[in-house]
Amino acid sequence: MGLTGVMLSLSMLNLNFDYAGCVKVSERVNWRVDEVMPQDTRLDFTRPFLPEQLARTRGLSVLAGEAFLNDIERRSLNQISGNAYLNLFSFVEEYILATMLKHAQAEVFGDPSALRALTRFVDEELKHQALFDRYKLAFQRDFGHPCGVLETAQEVAEVIMSHSPIAVLLITLHIELMTQQHFTECVKDADVDPLFKSLLKHHWLEEAQHARIDALELDKLASVATPAALELAADEYLGILEAFDGLLKQQAELDVRTLAEATKRTFNDQKAPRFRRRNWRTTARPSSGMA
Ligand SMILES: [Fe+2]
Ligand SMILES: [Fe+2]
Repeated sequence: MGLTGVMLSLSMLNLNFDYAGCVKVSERVNWRVDEVMPQDTRLDFTRPFLPEQLARTRGLSVLAGEAFLNDIERRSLNQISGNAYLNLFSFVEEYILATMLKHAQAEVFGDPSALRALTRFVDEELKHQALFDRYKLAFQRDFGHPCGVLETAQEVAEVIMSHSPIAVLLITLHIELMTQQHFTECVKDADVDPLFKSLLKHHWLEEAQHARIDALELDKLASVATPAALELAADEYLGILEAFDGLLKQQAELDVRTLAEATKRTFNDQKAPRFRRRNWRTTARPSSGMA
């Protein structure tokens, strides 16, 4: 089935969960930032942060037939990518929480369960940002080198939110399903830094409800949308995905720059373009495929 067919079938979604159930689970799994990462936690850089399926640094030990990154440099790149990975969540949560605030507003005087689910969703995203910001500060303090991350969350949020609400919900559902896939398929059983794994686990516990709420909101809008509106949303969704690809490329460039500083190496020789391209591809398509 093509994307248009998928979009048309959205108007017939048959979901076996509801807002009240999401609230119940959200209350059960709820956690506080201080429990997951107490203030002044020191980071341990003796182990990788991301699993190999997401960081994919193993293949960088040799490039163009020559030794390229040694074990310590590859572990550093893994940790730099881990910090950028958390920042990307915090980055997209900026537009997601602003969008969900609008969805919550639409339910004032409407369905109380939907309103509770949506307001909890917004509060949880704010909490996730607080957790990831705390981690980023600790990383900057303990890593010992400046670490560049994307800092245009607000501008990007405005651009994303200028699209149709269905397109915005589609990209949000995509991101939140990807979060779950990464945790269950790559992180859960990986031999990585326990704090980093715990952060991703706690994030995933709440994201599971978010994906369901996205689907419920999508169902609400798609069931009254015209086929033309659904097709427009599909096109916009693909356009936003392409824009995200560009952002991931920018982040990969920043990662390479940080690694150069941390290892006191330069990557501006013949190998640099291939290295950057490889690094961006593995960040953009970490597991079985983002898009
Ligand atoms: Fe989140
Ligand atoms: Fe979320």
